[in-house]
Amino acid sequence: MSILITGGAGYIGSHTCIELLEAGFNIVVADNLCNSSREALKRVEKLTNKTIPFYPVDVRNQKAMTDVFKAHTIEAVIHFAGLKSVGQSTQMPRTYYDNNVIGTLKLIEVMEQFDVRHLVFSSSATVYGDPSTVPITEDMPTGATTNPYGRSKYIVEEMLKDISIADDKWNFTILRYFNPVGAHKSGQIGEDPKGIPNNLVPFIAQVAVGKREQLSVFGDDYDTKDGTGVRDYIHIVDLAEGHVAALKTHRQDSGLHIYNLGSGTGSSVLEMLKAFEKSCGKTLPHAIQPRRPGDIAECYADPAFAQKALNWKATHTIEAMTDDTWRWQSGNPNGYES
Ligand code: NAD
Ligand code: UFG
Repeated sequence: MSILITGGAGYIGSHTCIELLEAGFNIVVADNLCNSSREALKRVEKLTNKTIPFYPVDVRNQKAMTDVFKAHTIEAVIHFAGLKSVGQSTQMPRTYYDNNVIGTLKLIEVMEQFDVRHLVFSSSATVYGDPSTVPITEDMPTGATTNPYGRSKYIVEEMLKDISIADDKWNFTILRYFNPVGAHKSGQIGEDPKGIPNNLVPFIAQVAVGKREQLSVFGDDYDTKDGTGVRDYIHIVDLAEGHVAALKTHRQDSGLHIYNLGSGTGSSVLEMLKAFEKSCGKTLPHAIQPRRPGDIAECYADPAFAQKALNWKATHTIEAMTDDTWRWQSGNPNGYES
């Protein structure tokens, strides 16, 4: 029996592959490599000393996905495959709905054909929109999303709810990630954004390694501890372990389960910058710029439900997140092309 990992060559997928292999699961990866590199999986194989069956396929290609299900006995699917750039989604909404929404629907159809009913879905804290209070619990309202990417995640969540109501054989787990950062301790795998990074920590890392001149801090007039945006940064290995915990907890279940995967701690942009400066041993140039459209002041999880139900907890500190990012970035200044 194997776990099928769609999008397994990507940032979260590759780290989750390591944790699953180390926990004794067999895995199969399907990824069209539109935002990742085959090299990531080769490094996972080296680190774990295991071979990963890999299929360079698009999840929307049902014929190719059928072949994957025919070749392996799949027990469950962790569905990471999707597009994730908020900015790009506003320029190319059709592409986002097609990949993220239709892709998930087509995957579910193939799963049903093979009577594979256990799916773990990568959702996002973005489904909460601008929350009225923090920390955010799973029962807080969702749907007030501000961009097509966020809406694609919300639509899939609603779709999974409806499907599980109509057919109680389905076993869906929705994981709402907060802000994943960091890299594997080995420094061999990490986040490798294409082009100019949209996200804070990859951008700081590229300033530290000399690829970008300075960090733009988007706004210092929010109603937060130091005026800059506050987020719940979660170490990628904690996040990956959350998937293993969710998979194990719900192995024999049916129905729909929803969890926040966050640390429960809010950190500001300036706090992250300071932590990174400590990790790399340099002062990093930055400039305060206007707020980024669509950003919210503060967003962090109440992780209590996931901690209790999944017997899982994020344990890595901010320092570990920036130390590990720096190890990866300084050892691989050009990512997997180094
Ligand atoms: P990523 O881009 O590194 O990984 C996604 C992977 O999916 C890539 O390897 C890409 O090549 C693959 N892919 C995309 N479309 C595909 C398709 N149609 N068929 C096959 N493969 C396809 O992104 P990530 O950060 O690892 O994110 C994984 C998932 O988690 C995504 O669904 C993303 O929306 C979600 N998520 C990410 C974050 C974050 O901040 N990184 C936050 C919340 C949710
Ligand atoms: N920021 C800067 N400068 C930058 C980049 C970001 O100041 O160059 C600030 C932002 O304004 C924000 C904070 O850093 O206050 C974090 O921004 P990110 O872009 O790293 O992360 P977001 O919280 O905006 O969004 C991320 C993902 C989304 C996901 C969301 C919730 O990019 O896809 O977390 O999970 F939906």
